[in-house]
Amino acid sequence: MTNIDTEALVASPTRTPSPRTYLMCRPEFFTVSYKINPWMEPTKPTDTARALAQWQTLYDTYLRLGHTVELVDPIPGLPDMVYSANGGFIIDNIAYGASFTYPERQAEGPAYMDWFRERNFDVRVPENINEGEGDFLLVGNTILAGTGFRSESRSHSEVAALFGREVVTLSLVNPSFYHLDTAVAVLDPLTGDENANIAYLPSAFDAKSLAILEDRYPDAIIVSEEDASILGLNSISDGYNVVIAARATGFERQLRERGYNPIGVDLSELLLGGGGVKCCTLELRR
Ligand code: ARG
Repeated sequence: MTNIDTEALVASPTRTPSPRTYLMCRPEFFTVSYKINPWMEPTKPTDTARALAQWQTLYDTYLRLGHTVELVDPIPGLPDMVYSANGGFIIDNIAYGASFTYPERQAEGPAYMDWFRERNFDVRVPENINEGEGDFLLVGNTILAGTGFRSESRSHSEVAALFGREVVTLSLVNPSFYHLDTAVAVLDPLTGDENANIAYLPSAFDAKSLAILEDRYPDAIIVSEEDASILGLNSISDGYNVVIAARATGFERQLRERGYNPIGVDLSELLLGGGGVKCCTLELRR
């Protein structure tokens, strides 16, 4: 007797990729010279050439998938500038600037805002500390907003007023997952809340935030501690192709089961600074 697995059929709908535009920053000056997250170990040597080569693979992967990648010039003395996700949060051509938590990264805020201004984005200088798409994730029409380690919750209200969208505050509790994009992956779609789905690491959140996630995303992919611990969640989806850390094999399997096309990229060198695929990528929504 043929046993038709209806659940598998329901769980694997057709996924449709959509072209995106990303901003990236070549890690020419990448190193770990200070420690602002548990991943960073300034005494441990880094290999800038290796970081550049790995970053190039990510860049080439986006082009191969049909995405557009724009570049901001790296600035000497700002080794974390490669993590462009933190440079701002952009929807409908409005660029909400970043205001960094730690002095080591503060100069990046104005540098990114200058870049946005030169490209005719409507730049809004932030009133509150926030680290851009590190802590703000657009899921359908909803903005998930992280706080606890970096972005202040007051920036969440600022973003809600600025973009006229619902902002859901989520509190992070594990210092290793200090930005929301290390604990949540946005899977789809571009617009609309219907069928919008995410993947996340439950233990990264306080009880209240976890209850919100469970309620809003009952079909979410729950990733393992093992995959999350190499920043496997720090990934970029176009609705079908999901660029993830090559070592996140469990997450890779989960994505495949759901009809996504996971593509592994090795960014081990950039992991030394506490960042992965998503950290190196800022979506430009014009
Ligand atoms: N060293 C950087 C920091 O601690 C890493 C930023 C990672 N970016 C991200 N979007 N999670 O700020």
